[in-house]
Amino acid sequence: MLPSFLVRFHDCRMNKKCKLRTEPEVDVPEKKICQREAADDEPRESTSLSQAVFTLGQDKTSTCRKCLPYRGPNVLILGDGNLSFSGALALMYPEFKLTASVIEDRAQFIERYPSGLESIEKLLSLPNVELQFEVDATKIPIEWKGKYNDIIMNFPHPGGKTNLKRCRELMNNIFASLQHIMTEDCRFHLSLAKRQSGLEHSAVLKQQHFSSELPVHNKDSWQIIYTAASYDMIADSVIPFDPTIFHEYLTSGYKNRDQKFWNSEAADLISFSCLPYALSSLPSPVPIQDSACFPKNYHSFRPFFRHDISILYRKSSDELAMWESLLFRFIVSRTAGLVVDLEEVESLRCVCPKSALANRIYRLYWQSVSAPLHRTLCNQLQNDLRDAITRYFADESIPLILS
Ligand SMILES: C[S@@+](CC[C@H](N)C(=O)[O-])C[C@H]1O[C@@H](n2cnc3c(N)ncnc32)[C@H](O)[C@@H]1O
Repeated sequence: MLPSFLVRFHDCRMNKKCKLRTEPEVDVPEKKICQREAADDEPRESTSLSQAVFTLGQDKTSTCRKCLPYRGPNVLILGDGNLSFSGALALMYPEFKLTASVIEDRAQFIERYPSGLESIEKLLSLPNVELQFEVDATKIPIEWKGKYNDIIMNFPHPGGKTNLKRCRELMNNIFASLQHIMTEDCRFHLSLAKRQSGLEHSAVLKQQHFSSELPVHNKDSWQIIYTAASYDMIADSVIPFDPTIFHEYLTSGYKNRDQKFWNSEAADLISFSCLPYALSSLPSPVPIQDSACFPKNYHSFRPFFRHDISILYRKSSDELAMWESLLFRFIVSRTAGLVVDLEEVESLRCVCPKSALANRIYRLYWQSVSAPLHRTLCNQLQNDLRDAITRYFADESIPLILS
């Protein structure tokens, strides 16, 4: 069964016309139709029908709102193409104070997005919106630190032909800039096409956060959760993103022009928070237990890293399993859940030609659920673990060598 949160989202998506205002083509609920049939004078009848339609529009808006991760009240929208998303959001959340922004100055904006003129007029007529030109998401003013609760950016793109390196560079610079202004009560909501995010979209749809299988993080993508982790951010939530639920939002900016780019490809909405604490070394060890084992439970939306260790066994092969199990228990204790799983790379099993000792290669899978783990940090943890293993072998006279 789908969790209630997802059922709501699913409902919302199924309801193709999740409009914010009353729409004549929306389906009128059965109960309301009955009311209409029972009415005997026409003016009252049409009033109750339009009330029904209005109520339904409100219901849909509130259903859509419940599906979305925005909490307000102060919201910054970055790189908003033709500014149509900001207009839609302002109507959907009249109680929020929105700052709508684009990177262009006014003249460039109008030249690039003729349809944006209408958006400007609309935004200026709304009491809860402030409009800002020339806001570069990679250089957000430091004075904005702590000013916003939600920072939203939909489908950022450096423009021109798609080039993975430039896209990753842009996102790196955006996260670097965000890190300076985000406080604990602020989240960054980023929507990306699924092939860009690199996350497993089926896990997003099913809201499957954990699995015994290694998550599939597409390397040929923007690898967004890996970039975010380098700036101490982790994904609080990842849900499917459907632009059609935002009334009058016209995804635009294809090649930085007033051209639609979204073609119904599935997209993810990833909400990041910036954590005040970060891992810097191995956690305190947990006591070694006879039955200790690796959690073998991967988080679908957290970075993971592989590292190998090579062990030489000074003992005969019939004792090998016992010493191996001791080594595994030590790693479980010393990494306190950060090594999610370990497997022997059997294809590399051999006898060392120099020492004639049995040699085994073990592959460790590192992942952290609660703290951002990035490559540099993981390399450091792996080195710390190597040092700890070497000390343990020496202190306890264990007949193994870490090579
Ligand atoms: C594909 S368009 C998406 C536009 C809009 N967010 C939408 O969903 O319709 C990519 C957008 O990223 C914006 N962009 C690229 N680099 C930016 C930066 N450094 N600061 C702000 N916006 C940027 C572009 O101006 C363009 O509007």
